[in-house]
Amino acid sequence: MASKNSTLKWHLPLVKSTLVMFIILMPAPCSTTKVECNEPNQPALLEALTPVFNLSTIRPVMNLTTCTKVNTFFTLYGILGVDEKAQLLITYLWLEYWWMNEFVSWDPTQCGTNRISLPRDEFWVPDIVINQFMDENTAPSVPYVYLYNDGSVHDSLPVRCVSSCNLNTYTFPFDIQNCTLTFGSYLHLAKDIRVFLGKSAANITEYSKNVMTTMGEWELLDITSVKHNASPNDFDELIFYISVRRRPTMYVVNLLIPSCFLITIDLFSFLLPPQNVDRSSFKMTLILGYTVFLLIMNDLLPITGDTIPLINVFFSLCLALMVASLLETIIITKLLCGSSNSSPVPRWIQVVVLQILAHLVCMPRRDKDADVELSSVVAKSKADEWPPEERGAAMNNKALQELRSLGRDLQAIRLQVEQKTGENQSSEDWVQVGLVIDRLLFIFYILFISVSFFTIIVIWVNSYGQ
Ligand SMILES: *[C@@H]1O[C@H](CO)[C@@H](O)[C@H](O)[C@H]1NC(C)=O
Ligand SMILES: *[C@@H]1O[C@H](CO)[C@@H](O)[C@H](O)[C@H]1NC(C)=O
Ligand SMILES: *[C@@H]1O[C@H](CO)[C@@H](O)[C@H](O)[C@H]1NC(C)=O
Ligand SMILES: *[C@@H]1O[C@H](CO)[C@@H](O)[C@H](O)[C@H]1NC(C)=O
Repeated sequence: MASKNSTLKWHLPLVKSTLVMFIILMPAPCSTTKVECNEPNQPALLEALTPVFNLSTIRPVMNLTTCTKVNTFFTLYGILGVDEKAQLLITYLWLEYWWMNEFVSWDPTQCGTNRISLPRDEFWVPDIVINQFMDENTAPSVPYVYLYNDGSVHDSLPVRCVSSCNLNTYTFPFDIQNCTLTFGSYLHLAKDIRVFLGKSAANITEYSKNVMTTMGEWELLDITSVKHNASPNDFDELIFYISVRRRPTMYVVNLLIPSCFLITIDLFSFLLPPQNVDRSSFKMTLILGYTVFLLIMNDLLPITGDTIPLINVFFSLCLALMVASLLETIIITKLLCGSSNSSPVPRWIQVVVLQILAHLVCMPRRDKDADVELSSVVAKSKADEWPPEERGAAMNNKALQELRSLGRDLQAIRLQVEQKTGENQSSEDWVQVGLVIDRLLFIFYILFISVSFFTIIVIWVNSYGQ
């Protein structure tokens, strides 16, 4: 009898524990299991919860066909940066999860509290991951979760999220990046775990904008979310789109404005006389300065192998324009300096350049005033030559001879002057050709600058105003 009693005693804890297990696993009508506390305080609650901890390895549902609904949202606490080379977006998130643990529920008055924080290790937690996650989470780890009296579990943790993002830097520094964060269970199918949005995307955006401390050069535009209805044998996903815009001020001040200054100076250097070498050496100096500027500012530019940012095209264009204008100056200088002892301007160049183009660029042909003056002076001297001779009959021979030699001298001078004038004429024509072409290329230069800069600016404005 005693032995029977002892075996009964021996088996009692086992029976008790299986009973507890049975009660826990039994599908209750309210689908949660009541936890009974002896006293309304935390130690008693903890003691009463202990059996639940042994079940931490299984999904907390009574009936396996029940799927665990995980509600989630995040607050974007900081945009730490964007790595264009590695195509990464680095953000700091506060993640929030809620789900139901059907193994537990208690009466808040009986146990003295409606929630208790307990180590996360004691519970089953959903294996939700962000698919784009590319690096270790270096945010501080938080070991606790909140357990509520109705069995809901609230998990909250900070994450330094290094997520891959398809960055498009074509319109840098006026670019808007649209990055994706996909939340989903890594292992469980949709019939086991489903992810739902716990807060409207508009509220997430608004709250994130309010609490955001560090944005660097990025400004949060919008957070939107998309939820596709996954079939039970598929993976359930909740997709967030984070849209951020770069603040371009730094790049405008450091890169674009200096470039525009240099191009303006290059433009105005066309006002320097092309005849002397000053203009080409001035332009040479400009190109040198611009090259040094680009070398220094190279660190600010994004490096991506994918597409060439428009700003690089802009810089190349500026440099190309400077080089082209230097080339033009060299050619014009050659035309002007080498013209003095060359042959007269060919007929067709006279027609095309001096008549047609000169009118186009509003540089009318130089008037012949100087020549007219010169020939009139010569004619006058010719006329003056004769009358004294008429009256010379009465004069003595000496005076006559004097006058004759004077006349010969004048004739020689006249010949010389005429020869010089002819030479001057051809050299002046060449100078005129040079000046007309210089003016024409200057107009082309202005047109090209205006059109290309206008195009680039329109593209930037369009992308920034999206
Ligand atoms: C929990 O499991 C441990 C062994 O893993 C066991 O010793 C303990 O009795 C169990 N507790 C309950 C309440 O079932
Ligand atoms: C689980 O739930 C399904 C559907 O809700 C039901 O058909 C099935 O009988 C339940 N299983 C148990 C063991 O209660
Ligand atoms: C971001 O991209 C997704 C998918 O391509 C699109 O649905 C969403 O509207 C985009 N968001 C913004 C702000 O452009
Ligand atoms: C969003 O916030 C407003 C007020 O801040 C609130 O009334 C509304 O319920 C919130 N919506 C969601 C889905 O949380």
